Amino acid sequence: MHGPRLVLIGPMGAGKTTVGREVARRLGVPFADLDALIVDRDGRSIPEIFAADGEEAFRRLEARVLAHALATHAGVLALGGGAVGDPASRALVASHPTVLLEIDESAALRRVHAGRGRPMLAGEDPLERWRTLTAERLPLYREAARWSIEASRGDVPAVARRVIAAV
Ligand code: S3P
Repeated sequence: MHGPRLVLIGPMGAGKTTVGREVARRLGVPFADLDALIVDRDGRSIPEIFAADGEEAFRRLEARVLAHALATHAGVLALGGGAVGDPASRALVASHPTVLLEIDESAALRRVHAGRGRPMLAGEDPLERWRTLTAERLPLYREAARWSIEASRGDVPAVARRVIAAV
């Protein structure tokens, strides 16, 4: 069994899912989204899992589903923004062809709405949470990714073309 052709990582709102789907379509390979795989496996939504079991339990589940997906999915795989926080997961992701989608704050402001559906951004100031989390995680993303793409500007096809050109 071969691993994924491409793994997409990056902060919330970077467009990992939409760009990943377009990259997969252009390459003619299947697409999978880690959050969707988690929901399929667990039967509850991401906010429900966070609310009932807490972040730590979510991270354990995420790490298990990620390891399985990296071992079995042969196409493009988009990860959630916190999936490379765990050192073992990060090392595993780094051993696959991984692209970091980077976005600036104004793009995040346009794309990340009020933390709805994103428990990590819940609270009074979702953009401030995004800023803090992204600053903390950027070195981890850079450690896990072989390539980095600017994803703030251009439509989905343009960013997808940039990803394909980079790898
Ligand atoms: C998270 C990002 C989400 C999802 C969960 C936690 C995070 O995925 O996995 O809400 O910690 O950054 P997206 O990056 O696709 O929003």
